[in-house]
Amino acid sequence: MIRHITGDLYQVSEIVSGQFGSEAVSVYVLLNGDQPVLIDCGSHLHRESIMADLETVLDGRTPAYIFLTHSELPHAGNISSVVSRWPDIHCVVSNVMLAYIEVLPTLPLAQITQATAGSMVTVGSRTLEFVTALLKDQPGSQWIYDGRTQTLFSGDGFGYHCPPEQSGRFSDEIPGGIQSEQFESYHRQTFRFLRWIQPERFNADLDRLIGMRPISIVAPIHGAAIRGDIDLHKERLKTAITAVCNSYRERLK
Ligand SMILES: [Fe+2]
Ligand SMILES: [Fe+2]
Repeated sequence: MIRHITGDLYQVSEIVSGQFGSEAVSVYVLLNGDQPVLIDCGSHLHRESIMADLETVLDGRTPAYIFLTHSELPHAGNISSVVSRWPDIHCVVSNVMLAYIEVLPTLPLAQITQATAGSMVTVGSRTLEFVTALLKDQPGSQWIYDGRTQTLFSGDGFGYHCPPEQSGRFSDEIPGGIQSEQFESYHRQTFRFLRWIQPERFNADLDRLIGMRPISIVAPIHGAAIRGDIDLHKERLKTAITAVCNSYRERLK
């Protein structure tokens, strides 16, 4: 499913149905003039449909770069198809990732850049920032910020479960937006370590990270883009994180 988010930013997503509702597996595309950028490339389970949708969005353009939030299969499972279709593509990953093992052996190392959190990568006339991934399930994870569209690509963070009728719809197309219970259900399943964090400290870090740059859109891989009302959705995520932590604390009493 292809959706136009804003400016030159597009979302390509597949939906997986599970025990807790539907969950998206999304790829984001910045057309970026003649140097398009992919953010993640989706699961190998959706290879044919994602590649077909990418061809439609790109409309003959050749993607110059792919940024991977991390190497898990829903995020990087299609990398071999992307590389065989566009062999000159340059891959940007976290400096903590073991790229020569985790990305793939067929992409020359000269086409892989390992970037630290806080570093900037210029692609054509655009500069993308690697941002510390506050919520991650692998050490080699990064979030990515695009200042031109004011979008934070948040990897596994800010994901949510939704009923089938909300699949692929942006937050501003859903009455009331994404609810904290939807964030809670997803984050409880995805980040098992949340039982050990201190929610007050985590939430303060989230406030700081979001407050450091203008953000109009949060683009989670396991959800559709959150367009507008960023502070409202951030507060709902904080509520969700606190609820997950507190439920474990209650069990320990
Ligand atoms: Fe992950
Ligand atoms: Fe994921």
